[in-house]
Amino acid sequence: MQIGELRLKNKVLLAPMAGVADSPFRQIAVEMGCALVYTEMVSAKGIICAPEQSLKIAHFTAAERPIGIQLFGSDPGVMADGAAACARLQPDLIDINLGCPVKKVVSKGEGSALMRDPQKVYKIVRAVTQAVTTLPVTVKMRKGWDEGSINAVEVALAAQEAGAKAVAVHGRTRSQGYSGQADWTIIGAVKEALTIPVIGNGDLWQPQDALQMLEQTGCDAVMLARGVLGNPWLIRRTVYYLEEGVLLPEPDLTEKIALALRHLQMQVEKNGEQIGVREMRKHLAWYLKGVRGAAELRNRIMRAKTQTEIVQILQPLR
Ligand SMILES: Cc1cc2nc3c(=O)[nH]c(=O)nc-3n(C[C@H](O)[C@H](O)[C@H](O)COP(=O)(O)O)c2cc1C
Repeated sequence: MQIGELRLKNKVLLAPMAGVADSPFRQIAVEMGCALVYTEMVSAKGIICAPEQSLKIAHFTAAERPIGIQLFGSDPGVMADGAAACARLQPDLIDINLGCPVKKVVSKGEGSALMRDPQKVYKIVRAVTQAVTTLPVTVKMRKGWDEGSINAVEVALAAQEAGAKAVAVHGRTRSQGYSGQADWTIIGAVKEALTIPVIGNGDLWQPQDALQMLEQTGCDAVMLARGVLGNPWLIRRTVYYLEEGVLLPEPDLTEKIALALRHLQMQVEKNGEQIGVREMRKHLAWYLKGVRGAAELRNRIMRAKTQTEIVQILQPLR
């Protein structure tokens, strides 16, 4: 699997996830064997107006490579300037968001609103590829805006024509948000139409799902998202399953708690105790999914304010 000049070591990627896939989480994903990770989406306009604050989201460490910075916006010129600023951080690629369904974003013509305007997509990708000639530019899109306007193939062709080096397809429309089942047939249709690599995304919950998506759609790589929340082992198990055909066991409770506590430590080191503990609450709730007494543990975690308190809650489970 290769995106422009960038060679990936396997076919398992971590999706960009705002509010979730931050630097510590991405480092864990890379440790688990992920071939490529992405930053949370960064506003191109934000980079121009308040560069220091906006570019904070784009920061990454060497332990997260290879990494793509994901940009969102709708003005080709602003996107080009934003991409140039991101390129100075020396990521491995720049990705353009054509999928965010949030009202605040689409109301400005950004994110998944761009699915309704393939010509605009062409202009944006063109402007960005011309602004960052040293890095591959990719896009991440949805199936379409709604069931009445399924146009992923058209948008993907526009992106390819404009110089994109890979396309990721989430098999849901904007109207679906994150509900309903992802339609993998649209991923197959995009793959058939394009010459650049296609990355399949949507409803990958088990290692077997990844193999099924690869076989069913012919896509070149898979991108895991919600399946990895509280379960980064899914990455390692998927890589192993695809390469060896063997299903590794799920982690036991001791392993889960050990990683949850290390994740907490990484968060606190990066963001300080107050923010780190707050950021970890959702992750800890996800790590505890399926654990006996999880509801009570979650309640205590939601009230905890310090790292020590959380260690005291989780340590007895090891
Ligand atoms: C909390 C959360 C945040 C997300 N943030 C982004 C984002 O910043 N950029 C993006 O392209 N997609 C984002 N997504 C979409 C995912 O990358 C992915 O396309 C989607 O979750 C479908 O995959 P899944 O069904 O396996 O979860 C986000 C999804 C979730 C759940």
